[in-house]
Amino acid sequence: MAGSIHEGPEFGIGDFVLLREVTHEAFLENLRLRYEKNRIYTYIGEVVVSVNPYKTVDIYNQTYVDHYKGRELYERPPHIFALADSAYKTMKRKSRDTCIVISGESGSGKTEASKIIMRYISAVTNVSGRKEVERVKDVLIKSNVILEAFGNAKTNRNDNSSRFGKYMDINFDFKGDPIGGHINNYLLEKSRVVHQQNGERNFHAFYQLLSGAPDQKLEEMKLSRNPDEYHFIRQGGSPKCSTINDQSDYRAVMAALKTLNFAFKHAETLWKIVAAVLHMGNMEFDTVDEVHDTVGVRDGHKLKNLAGLLSVTQEDLKKALTSRVIAAGGNVVNKEFTKSEALYARDAFAKAIYDRMFSWIVSRINEVIDPKESGTGYIGKGTVIGVLDIYGFEIFQNNSFEQLCINYCNEKLQQLFIELVLKQEQEEYMKEGIAWVHVEYFNNKIICELIEQPHKGILAILDEACLNVGKVTDEMFLTAMTQKLKSDRFTCRALSPADKTLEHSRDFRIRHYAGDVSYSVVGFIDKNKDTLFQDFKRLLYNSKDELVKAMWPEGIQDITATTKRPLTAGTNFKNSIIALVDQLATKEPHYVRCVKPNDIKSPSNFDEERVKHQVMYLGLLENVRVRRAGFVYRAKYSRFLDRYKLITKNTWPNFRGNEVDGVKMIIKSQGFEKDVAYGKSKIFIQSPQTLFTLEETRDKYIPFIIVFLQKFWRGGLARRRAKQMRAIYLIMAKFKRYKMRSYILNLVQLFRNVRNMRDYGKSIKWPTPPQVLTGLVEELRKVHSRWRANMILKKVPRPEWPMLQTKCTAQDVLKGQRADWGYRRKWEGNYLASSKDNSSTIDFVTKANALKASDHFSEILFSSYIKKTNKHNQTADRAIVITDKFIYKLDPKKKYKLLRRGISIGDVTGLSITPDADQLSVIHLKDGNDLVICLQNPSREERVGELVGSLSRFFRRNRKELPVTVAKQIKCSLGSKPRQILVKPSPANGGPTFRKEGNSLVLMWPQ
Ligand SMILES: Nc1ncnc2c1ncn2[C@@H]1O[C@H](COP(=O)(O)OP(=O)(O)O)[C@@H](O)[C@H]1O
Ligand SMILES: [Mg+2]
Repeated sequence: MAGSIHEGPEFGIGDFVLLREVTHEAFLENLRLRYEKNRIYTYIGEVVVSVNPYKTVDIYNQTYVDHYKGRELYERPPHIFALADSAYKTMKRKSRDTCIVISGESGSGKTEASKIIMRYISAVTNVSGRKEVERVKDVLIKSNVILEAFGNAKTNRNDNSSRFGKYMDINFDFKGDPIGGHINNYLLEKSRVVHQQNGERNFHAFYQLLSGAPDQKLEEMKLSRNPDEYHFIRQGGSPKCSTINDQSDYRAVMAALKTLNFAFKHAETLWKIVAAVLHMGNMEFDTVDEVHDTVGVRDGHKLKNLAGLLSVTQEDLKKALTSRVIAAGGNVVNKEFTKSEALYARDAFAKAIYDRMFSWIVSRINEVIDPKESGTGYIGKGTVIGVLDIYGFEIFQNNSFEQLCINYCNEKLQQLFIELVLKQEQEEYMKEGIAWVHVEYFNNKIICELIEQPHKGILAILDEACLNVGKVTDEMFLTAMTQKLKSDRFTCRALSPADKTLEHSRDFRIRHYAGDVSYSVVGFIDKNKDTLFQDFKRLLYNSKDELVKAMWPEGIQDITATTKRPLTAGTNFKNSIIALVDQLATKEPHYVRCVKPNDIKSPSNFDEERVKHQVMYLGLLENVRVRRAGFVYRAKYSRFLDRYKLITKNTWPNFRGNEVDGVKMIIKSQGFEKDVAYGKSKIFIQSPQTLFTLEETRDKYIPFIIVFLQKFWRGGLARRRAKQMRAIYLIMAKFKRYKMRSYILNLVQLFRNVRNMRDYGKSIKWPTPPQVLTGLVEELRKVHSRWRANMILKKVPRPEWPMLQTKCTAQDVLKGQRADWGYRRKWEGNYLASSKDNSSTIDFVTKANALKASDHFSEILFSSYIKKTNKHNQTADRAIVITDKFIYKLDPKKKYKLLRRGISIGDVTGLSITPDADQLSVIHLKDGNDLVICLQNPSREERVGELVGSLSRFFRRNRKELPVTVAKQIKCSLGSKPRQILVKPSPANGGPTFRKEGNSLVLMWPQ
């Protein structure tokens, strides 16, 4: 209902109830607009109006099924799925039988609609995938293929026109799964078997057999592929039709027969009967006795073929075709046919055999889909959905008995529609306690009565005519009608002499609800009597083909047996339709009203006149009016409140209180009090305008609501994110602390015992600290180092600390490049002041003090005897004294006389030594004249290490670094000339000496 207007205004209005004004113009305009935009479905309340698109529209796929499944009608744009779902839901919810009545004229899309509905139901059921249910669904759908092959034909209105009425019940179990079904068929248009109007075809089956059957099969049946060779199927002209593929349809029928478990031999028989009818049409008769005007069969070959196909003897067949047996007064007389009688009998035979076959097919399908037999666990209780797809109202060039039946059927359905739609409406108002205003609409009851009334109606008059003994003609029937019928809906030439469109003594006209139809009475009596001579029945009963025999059980009767006169075709039809209508009336109905947009099967042509006509006779406008006269819209209070509560502050977001009060609040806020009525459980709205305004207001608020919801949602999201972040940080912090803690604890554990370790924990490997602790750990290591140093130094007496420092410096500078550097020894520095080295220390000390006084140095870093050489390669024994200001070379033999001036310590640029045990030392000086010396002492102690340590320590104390080179070959500069010094071994006795070897100097070192 209302929801359908949400499709967007460019598609027109989804529910005609909401039209601003109910006029034909407005109705057609909306229908046309929607049709042009491929919106082929539109609602009138719960009724679906469907316009045949005459093209494939992709609106039936799974996406659409999902879209509509389980939804309410008004929740989605109009669609036949919504109606199917509604029928299904109603059945399930209320446990009630429902039905879907599909009406509309021929070619308006009824059969398609019924198939779409069945496919939808199939798609939404059996979610648990039960195998038997799947089989049932398959069978239900495939049965259409067979029924259409034998019961549909191309007419001028529709290439696939159903030539029989079909009502199908689908049975559901308590779970809502289809477990079977039942088909009722109504009046097959069997006259088509022997005659077709121009442009039309016989039933599809004939053409399917000729184009689809394999050569061998045709051969056996003595058939040719060319349909033009057969009288019964060529009368309408070319059998070709672009929308039909007989060949592939034949295969589809064969496959469907297999799916439906038809026995192979039964399928064979069906095709044989079709073939037999084709042959029958070509049977011709020749007068053999001019006097008695009797006939014989012209072609014995044909007779043989036909007899073969029906499995009867040629003799019997020939007899039945050319004569009949009459029982009169206990005597049995054989009466030979005249030529026209023979032709008449032949046609009657063909029609009957085909009609009987069709009925058998339906009954066979019913056996297959019988819910009791389907194996789905039928337990006797369950519900059905009935789908009615019956021939639509039709007007042909020439309308006969069949058209009268068909149109009568449509009158009955229209009657039902009027009754139910009005009845329902009325019941609803009554139930809800609302006063009902009557709406004028055309009630076609009078036309139904005109046709069906006992004793007085057309069918009764026809039956009466048929009952008369003696020769009764169609013309006499027309006269009887003219005299007896008193209705302005009936006329004929005798009653309207001025009407030239009606032929004298032949035509009559009925003003049907759907339009005027002129019928020709020719054939009415015959068709109504629908007699088939007992000879034929007996013939077929005696067939060797058990299926043919089974189709004709009444053939068993003896010719002399008096039987009750069978009901006429008209009365049969009337009874079945009345029964159908009664049955439909017990079910909750759903309507599909099919409209044909044009007569040329065009997908783009909206023939205003044709559509207007249909809209008129289908009473669609009245339908809209009825819906609107009372109230265009009704809804349960809860639903209404849900939908519109956002309109007022008091009801949004939740109304706490009685639903009715909430609804009243909304209505009051909009000032609509006068336009609504409050029922017991529903609110009723009178004018569409009110509903529009409500919808519009709702639309207006929706963006706010959306923003509101978004705000909350976004806020919620942000809060959640913030909470998560906070949690993350907390976890991170905790984790960091945990890491730190455990690291520190680990350190504490590791270093717990360092005090007692020999190396005070030097060997302990520090674990890699977490990132944050790297700085701290760096400091800790320093602290540990210092502590360790302190622990070591603590054991060393204070005065020895400088020596220790010197040793450390030496080690640091030498970096392990010299194997023996004398660190085990006590380093004394000023050796010449010690009696251990110097026997005349007094001389030295005196000299040193004098130098100290004159040169103002403050301490002696190192002193030693040396052997020295110079740029002239002269060697001499001397003493060296290194102070914090100068380096002095003294002559020990001359009471430590100072030889030349002291060398400023600032001139020292480096020191070179060898990696070996020799005592060679080169003190590099700025002026290019290095000191090349070899330390000597009486105890032959290693003292080069100490020299390195003393000088380096001094430099370091002055924040400079002394470059120290350790190499086997020492480079130096003497007299500004580069020289090389090597060490070579010499015998152990004797002291070290320098000597010149080429350009190099060599220290001969005693081993
Ligand atoms: N929903 C549809 N989609 C596409 N084509 C359709 C649809 N309904 C009907 N038609 C076309 O119209 C033709 C006639 O429809 P049909 O259902 O046989 O009419 P009816 O049963 O009312 O006589 C179909 O053969 C098909 O070509
Ligand atoms: Mg149809």
